[in-house]
Amino acid sequence: MEELCFFTAGGKEMALRWYSALETGIEEIDGQHRQLFEQIDRLLESAKSGAGQDACLRILDFLGGYVVEHFATEERYMERYGYPKKAEHKQQHAELVEYYRKMRARVEAEGAKPTLIIQLQHSLVEWLNNHILKSDRDLGDFLKSKR
Ligand SMILES: [Fe+2]
Repeated sequence: MEELCFFTAGGKEMALRWYSALETGIEEIDGQHRQLFEQIDRLLESAKSGAGQDACLRILDFLGGYVVEHFATEERYMERYGYPKKAEHKQQHAELVEYYRKMRARVEAEGAKPTLIIQLQHSLVEWLNNHILKSDRDLGDFLKSKR
């Protein structure tokens, strides 16, 4: 049981669901956010019945790659339009990537323990909600003002 990849134990309240307040108004960014939510949710669903450590690592690697790609998209917009809060926004991205790397290393070292996966899920849901509602929406407002 300890080795199960058990993403869903956090219960419904931790589900990653899209809602309209998360819109930044920038189509490309919103599309990637929705895609990110859908992929994470799908992967969590598929992990519900339990999967081993290898499956968890594959899931984590997929997510890690997609998140990095998505951050690069936002950062290209920041560079192109000279976003004044670029440094602090990029710092937040770097912190999530760093956190993700640490968690991946722990899953590799300790196995996909339910407690670890639940911790990762909670952190991702909380981080994404906070970051999109504040930082990404602020970026969206700035970009719209430049149009
Ligand atoms: Fe962002």
